Amino acid sequence: MSEHYFEFRNVSKSFGDNDVLKDVSFFIDQGETAVIMGRSGVGKSVSLKLLLGFLKPDAGKIIVAGNDVTEWTEKQFAEIRRTVTMVFQSGALFDSLTVAENVAFPLETRGEKRDQDKIDAKVAELMKELEVTDFAERIPADLSTGTKRSVAIARALAEDPAAILYDEPTTMVDPLMAAHVGDLIVKLKAKLKKTAIVVTHDTHLAKKLADRVIFLQEGRVGFFGTWAELANTKDAFLRNFLAQDELIPALEETA
Ligand SMILES: Nc1ncnc2c1ncn2[C@@H]1O[C@H](COP(=O)(O)OP(=O)(O)O)[C@@H](O)[C@H]1O
Ligand SMILES: [Mg+2]
Repeated sequence: MSEHYFEFRNVSKSFGDNDVLKDVSFFIDQGETAVIMGRSGVGKSVSLKLLLGFLKPDAGKIIVAGNDVTEWTEKQFAEIRRTVTMVFQSGALFDSLTVAENVAFPLETRGEKRDQDKIDAKVAELMKELEVTDFAERIPADLSTGTKRSVAIARALAEDPAAILYDEPTTMVDPLMAAHVGDLIVKLKAKLKKTAIVVTHDTHLAKKLADRVIFLQEGRVGFFGTWAELANTKDAFLRNFLAQDELIPALEETA
């Protein structure tokens, strides 16, 4: 057990001779939103997959929902993936189902006795929350990438998870749509107060969301702390990274 909701304790992960994560430690407490940042290929998606048991660490301990899951079986992970859901970058929607059917899917496939009116009401509520009601009868192939992301978030929330992991929710969509999806995530954070991890390159979104920032750098944790601490960092690499996105003046305001 751990007092933290999510924790990496000295986690290492290699693929062949590619040492991706080297002795990585961080934690996230219940109700907090952490943002994982870092260059492409640094191990952000791998970190999320380790949390959900899609990958196994070579060394270290992994805590999920306060449990040490390091030695967990696939069956145990299948259970926890209802409590902690992931919004994949691809969206991973069912192409043959409409938007409404995609959102309903986790509700329809639950073990409990089905109450169609309740399911319909929940689906309508989630589609409204994610602003995709107009697309209810469309199939994913007809939607923009940004709208697909919104639908994927609605479907993840249909699981009624305690925590939600977002893998680059605003990447590869046009800037307006990226801002829209980002704003939806910010709104959900304020409203639902679920524990969340958001992997993103989007420093403006990170600033709005992060209670804690985990900055991965060459397989190690280059920075782990609050946004205010990041704002005061003397680290040249981090200041440079943030300055590129013109966040340094904004940072100093929040410091
Ligand atoms: N299943 C896998 N098998 C082999 N290499 C992998 C696998 N998953 C990720 N990698 C490698 O691990 C590194 C980190 O990947 P990833 O976590 O996806 O990066 P990002 O930080 O961009 O999300 C990359 O070099 C990638 O090629
Ligand atoms: Mg990735």
